[in-house]
Amino acid sequence: MFDDDHLPTSIVGRNRHMNEVTDALAPIEDGFRAENCFLFGPSGVGKTTVARAAVRELRQEVLDVPHAYVNCWQDYTRNAVLEQLARDLVGAALPRSSSTGRLIDLIKNNLHGPGVVILDEADQLRGTEVLYDLHDIRGLSWIGIANREVDLLADLDDRITSRISVAYRVHFDTYNDDTIAKILSRRARAGLGPNAVGEDVLARIARLSEGDARQAIAALRVGARMASREGLSAIPARLVEDAVANAEREVRQKTISKLNDHQRVLYEVLAEEDGLIQKELYARYEEAHPDPVTLRYLRENHLPKLEHYNLVDVEWDRGTKRYSLVGVDHSEHRSELA
Ligand SMILES: Nc1ncnc2c1ncn2[C@@H]1O[C@H](COP(=O)(O)OP(=O)(O)OP(=O)(O)O)[C@@H](O)[C@H]1O
Ligand SMILES: [Mg+2]
Repeated sequence: MFDDDHLPTSIVGRNRHMNEVTDALAPIEDGFRAENCFLFGPSGVGKTTVARAAVRELRQEVLDVPHAYVNCWQDYTRNAVLEQLARDLVGAALPRSSSTGRLIDLIKNNLHGPGVVILDEADQLRGTEVLYDLHDIRGLSWIGIANREVDLLADLDDRITSRISVAYRVHFDTYNDDTIAKILSRRARAGLGPNAVGEDVLARIARLSEGDARQAIAALRVGARMASREGLSAIPARLVEDAVANAEREVRQKTISKLNDHQRVLYEVLAEEDGLIQKELYARYEEAHPDPVTLRYLRENHLPKLEHYNLVDVEWDRGTKRYSLVGVDHSEHRSELA
């Protein structure tokens, strides 16, 4: 119930977003290729959840619809994405390190009928050729998810933008406190029982979570754990602040564990010395990483990711950005990395 990838039975307060995505997918029910769609917005606002719930709805209509989920943060190369697709869409048993061409053929030859792919964290894709690949596979459509609207589509050159249409662009804004409280209330009832959390406590967690459902749910989980350690069956209001703070740390810790090697080096550099401007940060990163990306790539891809997940704070300082780690003090950061 409290796992981040738990898909709740009902999605609270996102009817319009759900409708847009199910509209995009609707052609599949009649045997046609769906429209591509692109979901974007800040962290913890239900993008991944809505995409998965829309595919779940589709599967209730079209039982054996080919579908795949790729987390491009982990699988960021063209081949990694295609391998995941070959596995999920056509159940291919892959020979080790198949070539790009072979992977595409495998999917093309074995995909029968229209299907859909969720490209989560699509702003982490190294290059956009894979979108051409998907486009060339008959019947295949995608739901792309990223933090900002520009991130995915900026890199596409004119050829691709004219060929690949993204018919639906769905913006997710942060939840208001009432919606967060409602999400929490359902989760609490389902996971902890009917009376484990009072309205006041839910409202308080909601207010402190600033529209981020992931933080809020984590705080609920941590609060329940703290209460049960004290032998209590309900979460008392006095524990809320600590629960929220501890949950923030837990979520941050989990995010750190997902960083790719470039982002990790950046994080480590900042843990060594906080408050670096972009140039300094890049210089240290370039020294520390065996195969560094360009400053531009770092600026447009990895640094925004760290910001999005609230791992670094950015401050404008005389026309340049200055980066520091969010939250706790330095010694603590070092132990987080250890
Ligand atoms: N409308 C909702 N109803 C119920 N649960 C929700 C809702 N929105 C989000 N959640 C829950 O909140 C958590 C975070 O949601 P989700 O993973 O969809 O966020 P996201 O927008 O994809 O964030 P990120 O950009 O960090 O990946 C998940 O555990 C999800 O189950
Ligand atoms: Mg997500």
